[in-house]
Amino acid sequence: MTDITARKRPVAKTQWWRPASVWALYALGLAPAVWYFYLGATNQLGVDPVKTFEHVLGIWALRFILATLCITPLRDLADINLMRYRRALGLLGFYYVCFHFLVYLVLDQRMDVSMVIEDVIKRPFITFGMMALVMLIPLAVTSNNWSIRTLKRGWILIHSFIYEITALATLHFAMSRKVIGPEIMLYIAIAVLLLGYRFARPAIMERRRARKKAARMQKGAK
Ligand code: HEM
Repeated sequence: MTDITARKRPVAKTQWWRPASVWALYALGLAPAVWYFYLGATNQLGVDPVKTFEHVLGIWALRFILATLCITPLRDLADINLMRYRRALGLLGFYYVCFHFLVYLVLDQRMDVSMVIEDVIKRPFITFGMMALVMLIPLAVTSNNWSIRTLKRGWILIHSFIYEITALATLHFAMSRKVIGPEIMLYIAIAVLLLGYRFARPAIMERRRARKKAARMQKGAK
């Protein structure tokens, strides 16, 4: 969720917008939760407001998790560096998963913990969702500069679990619906591409490095 390669540099006066843009992302990212909460509170969420609220929060959670995974391929393949937003995107994903779970616990299950435990045990899609939530906690807790400095390699290991979490979250989404329609297909395709990139990345980067080296040598020979 955080860029381990980011070094602390003094923020130049002309770059004031950088931290400001991260805070703007947090504000913008939380806007859908506030908006849907408002719609729910004013009775504008349709015939089943609890389900609708639960669903939109789940969808936004998945969107932010997938957006977090887009940052590295964007930098590698398109030279678009959005690293400074990665932590915010990951944390927004975590916040939405928490909101989604809270709606399920408080409004859907009416705080009946035994029902929740039964659901987690008996319904595989809930099991996968719960696993994803539990696995996200250490990532969220260590999404700060102090943890990066202190945990070093351990931090990289903890945050590498984002791929397993994404797979579980996508599976949870796919299994939560009776029919696999175009929307789920799209999310599955994006998740498969991003998870696939993780495995293909070493080879892709190696080829890019070799190509750059060859281009440099060719330039030098001219
Ligand atoms: C990373 C974690 C999670 C993500 C990304 C996630 C995401 C989603 C998504 C996208 C949906 C489908 C929304 C739709 O159909 O429009 C969904 C449905 C649901 N999720 Fe999650 N979820 C997560 C964790 C959890 C957890 C921990 C629970 C509860 C223990 C949970 C309970 C549910 C329930 C009850 C539904 C609705 C199923 C229905 O339609 O009856 N989810 N979730």
